[in-house]
Amino acid sequence: MDKILYINSCVREESRTNKLAKYLLDKLNGNIEEVNLNKENIRPLNSSLLKKRDKLREINDYNDDLFKYAKKLKDADIVVISSPYWDLSFSSLLKIYFENVNIGGITFGYDEKGNIKSLCHIKKLYYVTTAGGYIQSDEYGFGYVKSMFNTFYNVDDISYIKAEGLDIYGNNIDNIMNFAKMDIEKLFK
Ligand SMILES: Cc1cc2nc3c(=O)[nH]c(=O)nc-3n(C[C@H](O)[C@H](O)[C@H](O)COP(=O)(O)O)c2cc1C
Repeated sequence: MDKILYINSCVREESRTNKLAKYLLDKLNGNIEEVNLNKENIRPLNSSLLKKRDKLREINDYNDDLFKYAKKLKDADIVVISSPYWDLSFSSLLKIYFENVNIGGITFGYDEKGNIKSLCHIKKLYYVTTAGGYIQSDEYGFGYVKSMFNTFYNVDDISYIKAEGLDIYGNNIDNIMNFAKMDIEKLFK
C-alpha cells in the first residue's frame, strides 16, 4: 500500500481547492495521511527556532516535534499538495511548511560532489490550486513547488490540477469545477 501524504494549505472552510484535492484523493489507492497546515501550530523559522533546530541537528537528536513534518515526508510514496492561488503563488502556510520540512540529514543530503541528494522516496507529486482570476504565469506557484520537488526530492512525475476564474462575476463556477474534475479523471484513464 502506498503512503499518501496530503499537505492541505487551504485556508477557507469552504475551500474549493480542498474540495478538488479531496476529489483527487478519492481516486488514489493507499493510506492517506492529511497534514492540515491551517490546524497545525507551524511557525516560520525565526532566530530562536532555527538555533534550536541547528543545535539538535548537531547532536543528531531528531526526537523533537520540529522534525515531525520531515519524518512524514520521508515516509511518503505519493504527495498531494493543495493551496489556493494567492498573490501570484500560494498561501504563506505552504512556504512555512517548506521551511519546516526541508531538513538536511532527514529529507535530503549532499553527494560527494556537493550535489543535492534526496533522502526520500517520493514517486509522484500532485499539485492542486484554484484561482479567483486567471493564472498569468505558473512560475511562482506551481513552478516553484515543481522545482522544489525536482531539485530536493528527484521527483519528475508531477501533475498540476487547476481551476481558474472562480471569482469572476458571471462565470459558471460549477462548470469550471467540473472541468477540473474531468482533468483529474483523465489522469487515471
Ligand atoms: C489573500 C488572497 C490573495 C489572492 N490572490 C489572488 C491572485 O493573486 N490572483 C487571483 O487570480 N486570485 C487571487 N485570490 C483569489 C483566490 O485565488 C480564489 O478565491 C481561490 O479560488 C481561493 O481558493 P479557495 O476557494 O480554496 O479558498 C486571492 C484571494 C485571497 C484571499
